[in-house]
Amino acid sequence: MAVNVIIGTQWGDEAKGKTIDILAEKSDAVVRAQGGNNAGHTVVADGVTYKLNLIPSGILHKGTLCMLGAGMVIDPRVLLSEMEKLTAYGITFENLKIDPRAHLIMPWHIALDNLSEKYKSNSGSSIGTTGRGIGPCYADKYERVGLRIYDIAHPEALKTKATATGELKNRIITEIYGGEPLDIDSIIAEYAALGEKLKPFIDDVSVLADKVIKSGKTLLLEGAQATLLDIDFGTYPYVTSSHPISAGVANGAGVAPNVVDKVYGVAKAYTTRVGEGPFPTELKDDIGDYIREKGQEFGTTTGRPRRTGWFDAVIVRHAVRLNGITDLVIGKLDTLSGIETLKICTSYKKSDGTTLDYFPSVLEELADCTPVYEEFPGFDDDITAARTWEDLPGICQDYILKLQKLCGCKVSMIGVGPDRVQQINI
Ligand code: GDP
Ligand code: IMO
Ligand code: MG
Repeated sequence: MAVNVIIGTQWGDEAKGKTIDILAEKSDAVVRAQGGNNAGHTVVADGVTYKLNLIPSGILHKGTLCMLGAGMVIDPRVLLSEMEKLTAYGITFENLKIDPRAHLIMPWHIALDNLSEKYKSNSGSSIGTTGRGIGPCYADKYERVGLRIYDIAHPEALKTKATATGELKNRIITEIYGGEPLDIDSIIAEYAALGEKLKPFIDDVSVLADKVIKSGKTLLLEGAQATLLDIDFGTYPYVTSSHPISAGVANGAGVAPNVVDKVYGVAKAYTTRVGEGPFPTELKDDIGDYIREKGQEFGTTTGRPRRTGWFDAVIVRHAVRLNGITDLVIGKLDTLSGIETLKICTSYKKSDGTTLDYFPSVLEELADCTPVYEEFPGFDDDITAARTWEDLPGICQDYILKLQKLCGCKVSMIGVGPDRVQQINI
């Protein structure tokens, strides 16, 4: 029996999807625990690229129970269209379960996400959200006016709640933002039809997860987003609206934290970020462009170019501590091939000359920090065919050993290409 968690250590897109797919092969069940279709998790298997937004990245393994936990925010239109796309690849959903407590993303959440971003852009303060309605949906959840998966399968509850909330949202859309009102009746009708289709999948994920654990099987908890996007411990306000750290993932799945065995923290061999917000090791030069092109750093969900920069050990140390990471997974080492000199940020220097070796709690303090770098010789070798530690050139091994030392956590997997087989276990 084991309960393992996978989380992102940086600003997302670290290769969690690939790692989940690999670990799901030896797991009986996978729970996606928080976030919604702001996530884009890629799995490349047998020449096919799967982009998953809501469905757990364990779905490619037939027989694996795949569950969407209570902590998620779910756009039913996106969920059904994702299921339809996967059906074309022969994937079936008899093992898919959705917790009735998960919140529903309604069309007004999407409208308000985009109107709010537009409004904020007038003062240069937009977050660069994915525009999927994530923040407004979580805001309603915490205001305790949200609609949940249970409601979509119960037409009376759906009608009563959507009418009350929808009318208020229309007033905000039109009177505050000057936007176009939504047709609430047609939304109710559309959602009721979607609810009919989703009804068979609704079940208590927390109870099902407990059964998996009690029967001595292996459960995988799939985190979306990443530590630096956590609403409390990320670069607030340039964060998402959920808790992508291990405790938040256990909570969102409805699993007690003391049953967790291993926490896999996925990090890229460098750093990327999509959207606005601080990024101490960002490279706005030819090397940054090289990494973007070579690593194909374009958003899985929105297609936006990702910002790129050097590996920041201060950030990953912050993630190791907050998440209780037992195993680091270093993704995309192959992308760094062809760069003459590599740099790793080991600490930050403040304007008063002092050194900081942990991530500052607020942006005002972070603004006073400059990265301190250590340099390493780069490598030219194509490492995409490496399958064992011994296959890696000495320079790559030294780079990984350095990351391991600086982050204070053992590295147990290394990615050398997008395919599920392009992975080295140590
Ligand atoms: P996630 O959100 O953490 O699941 O990551 P994404 O799927 O959004 O982004 C990771 C991207 O890197 C995807 O396009 C993957 O196919 C790709 N990828 C994953 N691991 C590797 C690797 O080791 N090397 C290379 N070159 N690409 C990888
Ligand atoms: P995965 O799971 C990278 C970022 C957005 C934006 C901020 C807030 O694929 O790693 P939101 O729509 O959540 O309100 O946007 O968070 N963001 C991500 N960046 N990967 C993700 O997910 C992300 N999910 C949200 O770009 O900066
Ligand atoms: Mg992604």
